[in-house]
Amino acid sequence: DSYMSLSRSMINSSDKIIRKGSSSIFHHSVEGWKINSSLVLEIRKNILRFLDAERDVSVVKSSFKPGDVIHYVLDRRRTLNISQDLHRLLPEVSPMKNRRFKTCAVVGNSGILLDSGCGKEIDNHDFVIRCNLAPVVEFASDVGTKSDFITMNPSVVQRAFGGFRNESDREKFVHRLSMLNDSVLWIPAFMVKGGEKHVEWVNALILKNKLKVRTAYPSLRLIHAVRGYWLTNKVHIKRPSTGLLMYTLATRFCDEIHLYGFWPFPKDLNGKPVKYHYYDDLKYRYFSNASPHRMPLEFKTLYMLHNRGALKLTTGKCV
Ligand code: CTP
Repeated sequence: DSYMSLSRSMINSSDKIIRKGSSSIFHHSVEGWKINSSLVLEIRKNILRFLDAERDVSVVKSSFKPGDVIHYVLDRRRTLNISQDLHRLLPEVSPMKNRRFKTCAVVGNSGILLDSGCGKEIDNHDFVIRCNLAPVVEFASDVGTKSDFITMNPSVVQRAFGGFRNESDREKFVHRLSMLNDSVLWIPAFMVKGGEKHVEWVNALILKNKLKVRTAYPSLRLIHAVRGYWLTNKVHIKRPSTGLLMYTLATRFCDEIHLYGFWPFPKDLNGKPVKYHYYDDLKYRYFSNASPHRMPLEFKTLYMLHNRGALKLTTGKCV
């Protein structure tokens, strides 16, 4: 029943009101927030109709052999060869098999985290998921350091590690990965053509330096399944963002999901500018049609789920 009414309010998902950048309608309270466990179970069950995160979080070794040719998920005309290195790094079994947690944090990369003091609270969760290899050490008091699962779009190599042009870029990268120990490093390698060289270099560095990190490469059906779930609930998201993907996957493993660093707006509720990323100067056109994502619409959906007790969204300071 609660799920039906959830779907009904998702139907009303026109994001026109937030297109003008008026984030002020999202003034929500974390005080008095309470988990709605039956809704959490309902959502998990419904998502399971579309995907099983245990399986879809990564392809496994037995799915391919070296030399196999696959089609990119979002670019079906282009193909990728499964290399020896890639095959060596495919997990034997899902890295999330039988893993269950009471509380999880999904940490987005918005500048809203700066000055939040949320580091301790984030690190207190049983399982912490982060996006795009975001740096943590320099921002520990606001974002924490615990990283059990971290995503890495191939473009990160270019954006944050100088395309591995210098030895020092490669060293910096190897150092960053070695800090992850045996956490899961999730690389969407099969989405679109363009990043295959970067993925190969990353794979080669992991093997050469015998890094302990546990690599995972999302299944070919994951993104379609996630999109299908949200579409069925009338949330029209063509390309779910990494953050939304992580929330969707986490519903399988986590009883209570807390979101931090989700704020796809240029200003906070007091009108103060907010950086797109807490750690760099990347600019982003939140409302542009050129962007593949519709983060404000995603945010609106997450905000509604917060109000219903399905997840907890923190966009202010942690005390
Ligand atoms: N995010 C947000 N508000 C921001 C920046 C990021 O809500 N100002 C969330 C989004 O869900 C995003 C996630 O945090 O997917 C991780 O941020 P980022 O690394 O910037 O992801 P992108 O590279 O922008 O998007 P993607 O990897 O999904 O293409």
